[in-house]
Amino acid sequence: SPSDPDLVERARAAKEKLGDKVFVLGHHYQRDEVIQFADVTGDSFKLARDAAARPEAEYIVFCGVHFMAESADILTSDDQKVVLPDLAAGCSMADMATAEQVAECWDVLTEAGVADQVVPVSYMNSSADIKAFTGRHGGTICTSSNAERALEWAFEQGEKILFLPDQHLGRNTAVRDLGMSLEDCVLYNPHKRNGGLTAEELRNAKMILWRGHCSVHGRFSVESVNDVRERIPGVNVLVHPECKHEVVAAADYVGSTEYIIKALEAAPAGSKWAIGTELNLVRRLANRFAAEDKEIVFLDKTVCFCSTMNRIDLPHLVWALESLAEGKLINRIEVDPETEKYAKLALERMLALP
Ligand code: 13P
Ligand code: SF4
Repeated sequence: SPSDPDLVERARAAKEKLGDKVFVLGHHYQRDEVIQFADVTGDSFKLARDAAARPEAEYIVFCGVHFMAESADILTSDDQKVVLPDLAAGCSMADMATAEQVAECWDVLTEAGVADQVVPVSYMNSSADIKAFTGRHGGTICTSSNAERALEWAFEQGEKILFLPDQHLGRNTAVRDLGMSLEDCVLYNPHKRNGGLTAEELRNAKMILWRGHCSVHGRFSVESVNDVRERIPGVNVLVHPECKHEVVAAADYVGSTEYIIKALEAAPAGSKWAIGTELNLVRRLANRFAAEDKEIVFLDKTVCFCSTMNRIDLPHLVWALESLAEGKLINRIEVDPETEKYAKLALERMLALP
């Protein structure tokens, strides 16, 4: 998208003034106008690692959503300040699991007599509170690029997994990667008494999936897969594992945003791809690979941006960088020490996965 030349110049000048004091991280779903100022881009796993690898930067400006900025704060030192250019950049999926709901769920599992067999595995897309819960109960965090290894690790620690908050990533990984059956999975609904499950169902289940989802990836349907196959003969359908199970089953390839980029880099000239993930990334990839004669289309007919990712725009980034350049600390994301301690434990278990 064309960005205002005045704002581009202001962002450039503020960044230059800050020099090594600032490090700008950009998630793949960010707008082009923001991505052009990112020192590093990546999926949520790569960004968590990259944030921790910059101890000399006083300010980490996180162009992404709130849970990513929290994770960066947890993984960086106490004197490093993490800044989110718009505090309204949340994530509707992360909001689907609150600390109170998850504590209540643990009570339900305890009542059913299964809590001591359960290992929590929480998707990166969750609040610091949920990550701390996970760490306290011996569990790990995962992202869409290491969910298989995280589940394998968890099944070495206990018989059952409580997977939070994305039911689709949990189900897709259990069934596709670990060869489990759909019957091994049950859905815990935090809005129903006892999660809507009987004690017997909880005793028989191997995967207890939290009833959360991503509203962006939830829009893709089997119909959109069938449509694109009809429209573009020979097309390869590649989707993110936050898509529904039936969409993943109908696709040719499944993977995180970083996987999607690598798959397209390796794709032969002349190949055709329909991608089921956020639109900023798909458009950027379509433009980038057009010159190599790879045809890349969005897997749906309707527009599909992540509205909260899109809240970080060039005006917000300019405001954040100029404020920091003037010595004004704004929009700091800071996790309290007690939460941080246990959330860090869970994140470090993820970083140590083989
Ligand atoms: P990844 O960055 O792990 O691919 O996850 C996508 C996503 O939804 C981030 O919010
Ligand atoms: Fe959350 Fe989905 Fe947006 Fe990712 S794409 S930030 S999971 S709403």
